[in-house]
Amino acid sequence: MASSKLARFLNPNRKFVVHFSTISRTSQILQRRFFSDVTQPSSIDPPPSPISPPPPPTFYESTNPSGGGDKRPPISSSLNESELLKFSSIAETWWDSQGPFKPLHVMNPTRLAFIRSTLCRHFRIDPCSARPFEGLKIIDVGCGGGILSEPLARMGATVTGVDAIEKNITIARIHAESDPVTSSIEYCCTTAEKLVEEQKKFDAVISLEVIEHVANPAEFCKSLGSLTVPNGATLISTINRSMRSYATAIVAAEYLLRWLPKGTHQWSSFLTPEELVLILNRASISVQEMAGFVYNPLTGRWALSDDIGVNFIAFGTKNSQ
Ligand SMILES: C[S@@+](CC[C@H](N)C(=O)[O-])C[C@H]1O[C@@H](n2cnc3c(N)ncnc32)[C@H](O)[C@@H]1O
Repeated sequence: MASSKLARFLNPNRKFVVHFSTISRTSQILQRRFFSDVTQPSSIDPPPSPISPPPPPTFYESTNPSGGGDKRPPISSSLNESELLKFSSIAETWWDSQGPFKPLHVMNPTRLAFIRSTLCRHFRIDPCSARPFEGLKIIDVGCGGGILSEPLARMGATVTGVDAIEKNITIARIHAESDPVTSSIEYCCTTAEKLVEEQKKFDAVISLEVIEHVANPAEFCKSLGSLTVPNGATLISTINRSMRSYATAIVAAEYLLRWLPKGTHQWSSFLTPEELVLILNRASISVQEMAGFVYNPLTGRWALSDDIGVNFIAFGTKNSQ
């Protein structure tokens, strides 16, 4: 079933948010299609772009303690080196609102609106409060230069921002230091799986536009689930693997409009909403709500929508244990 149809089917009143009341209902809708069953087509990805090779980046190196005689099982790494190279080469541009990260800057108010409304509802917080996230421990996994971490801190959260690229973390730290409210953000160059090993826990785990760049999305979701406290919240945004996303997020955004550097996204690495629901379910996260982000070329703004055919965000809760 096409994703927009799925959204409409689940949400006949056409409110912008798709509610997932029970996972069993979702599973029926998904016709028991599991992520591991899906053949990832790769042949329609555009040809590799002629990007000149960037200098070797410094990023978090997984130090697997099982190497030297330790009997612990190997830690699966979420790091995808070729993806990290791309981000490392444009790390200086994080806070250039007209640069390669312009789409994230423009999308930010819309994604924050969804985060604010879902977290306030879940944690029973007054959404009109000036600092609604006061008292919440939130981690931003794959925080880049801190575009999302900073507004979360301004909303009162105790924020940890982590990214696999050292340069991103340096830039995020320098930018955050200029404001006393954001200077409290704890930035660290590390990965979700490393934090699981350190037994870190957060009330809300947020990872926006990252899962399509990791080595193993299912393992990555397991790490996000492990970082979330029981009854806590997990939010993930990504791009649907649909024909429309190929036309808009790759051909239009990278090749025609040049919003993003060519080769930023691999279509075959995108997940459908159905796949994301299933891998989150396996990570003990029940998806409760989904919404799409749609771009209005007339206003140049993004808005929340029930159309999850291209860009979408999922809000889930960790099962109580
Ligand atoms: C498209 S950017 C999104 C940045 C930020 N989440 C936002 O939406 O504003 C993807 C980020 O994920 C980071 N990343 C990719 N794989 C990662 C991994 N396995 N662990 C941590 N960070 C990762 C990249 O370095 C990059 O900063």
